[in-house]
Amino acid sequence: MENRAQWGTRAGFILAAVGSAIGLGNIWRFPAVAYENGGGAFFIPYLFALLTAGIPLLVMEFTIGHKYRGSAPLSFFRMNRKTEWLGWWAVLVSFVISTYYAVIIAWAIRYSFFSINLTWGEDTESFLFNDFLQLTVSPGQTGSIVMGILIPLIVVWLITLGVLFAGVKKGIEKANKIFIPTLVVLFLIIVIRAITLPGAAQGLQTFFAPDFSQIANPNVWVAAYGQIFFSLSIAFAIMITYSSYLPKKSDISNNAFIAGFSNSSFELLAGIGVFGALGFMAQQSGVGVEEVVAGGVGLAFVVFPQIINEFPALSGLFGFMFFISLVLAGLSSLISISETYVAALKDKFGLSRNAAVGLGGGLAAVISILFATQGGLYFLDAADYFINQFGVAFVGLVEVVVIAWFLRKLGEFQTHSNEISDIRLGGWWKACLGVVTPIVLGWMMFSLFKQNLLGEFETETGNYAGYGDTFIFFSGWSVAIFAIVVGFIMSRTRWHASSLEEKKREVS
Ligand code: ALA
Repeated sequence: MENRAQWGTRAGFILAAVGSAIGLGNIWRFPAVAYENGGGAFFIPYLFALLTAGIPLLVMEFTIGHKYRGSAPLSFFRMNRKTEWLGWWAVLVSFVISTYYAVIIAWAIRYSFFSINLTWGEDTESFLFNDFLQLTVSPGQTGSIVMGILIPLIVVWLITLGVLFAGVKKGIEKANKIFIPTLVVLFLIIVIRAITLPGAAQGLQTFFAPDFSQIANPNVWVAAYGQIFFSLSIAFAIMITYSSYLPKKSDISNNAFIAGFSNSSFELLAGIGVFGALGFMAQQSGVGVEEVVAGGVGLAFVVFPQIINEFPALSGLFGFMFFISLVLAGLSSLISISETYVAALKDKFGLSRNAAVGLGGGLAAVISILFATQGGLYFLDAADYFINQFGVAFVGLVEVVVIAWFLRKLGEFQTHSNEISDIRLGGWWKACLGVVTPIVLGWMMFSLFKQNLLGEFETETGNYAGYGDTFIFFSGWSVAIFAIVVGFIMSRTRWHASSLEEKKREVS
């Protein structure tokens, strides 16, 4: 049995974790989520979620990976045989995310080329839906494959799987060492340009204006927790997998704080840049900033092209830089999302890295073609809806309840982390994970299930508002059930002998 792969340097691990965290969620989800949920006042629930759930859970996941040295299912199996399914569940959620996340990166690749000569013309919305996506079918129908999406999608998978084939140190670590510094420099240039545009100040004022009445609204808290979980890549199986490649002598808690704060700083920067640019656009069109705010697909692929159209100079270059930033942020996250199932397949069936990448990555790549069809956006909305409603935060809730309440492992994890880390975990850490997070998340999930099950169903998928909710609702539930059922089946199959042998070695 080969020795487990390891990161080359501490910086390599931190960059990979930060690369996973900083993704599409930071650039296109955060600005609109913050604005719609109270603007400046949103920072109260956001910081609360970051400090009481985000970073404590990140510390916990780093500890699990470091202590049990396995993919998420293997780590959970080693923690307690009965919890293996929890690892698979998180892996399957990641698997679903990877299939549509890749497609959004493919769009961004196309759009970086479109920006050079502003191919999208004046009507950027019609360009996106009619010319580019060719969305002419009904929800649930695929229509034919759109070549303009399929080709960049193949490029996305070739890069991602190429990096994964190369391994942890030579592939993932090296890619992040190139992608993340490049992304930060590009993004700083974009933000500085955006906030020096005429009208930017108005945009920022709109973004930061606090609406304190929103703090009492439970949905605002749901939004804050959802954002933190998605953005920090928590409960995706990612951080357990990445920290399983840490050398024995490694810091845990300090690394988690660095990753958590870097991610939130980038997110804040994205909010400032996006709202600076929206302020500019509102001024150019003579309307209020609130009329041009958008999130998700609408922000990146409809509103940003409009902003680029209005640019005073070098518009093509600004556009190119914006879309390349999306591509870099997206790729470094997609690599981490896909590594979860590569590592899990490798551990479970004793496969070589190449075979696991070929099997897991290949399957995800084939499924992702569904989203490159004419009806792809509908399916994408359905998958994304599932992730937001029952995906990540729900896995996170079950994870903390099982670990803190049933297995009572927090004390052991605290000691493990304190032995090797700069920042010592105290009672606050156990209180956050054992009391605060389960209560807030539990209540949040209860109200979401109520909404979804009892017909108080209301969804704003935020992407394409041209179809009914039923399709999204049923598809969302099907994907949720799929993840749980397949996770359960996987946990019933036998481990390859090599993973069990390693356990014996660890224990003895
Ligand atoms: N954490 C990644 C993102 O924000 C998945 O997009």
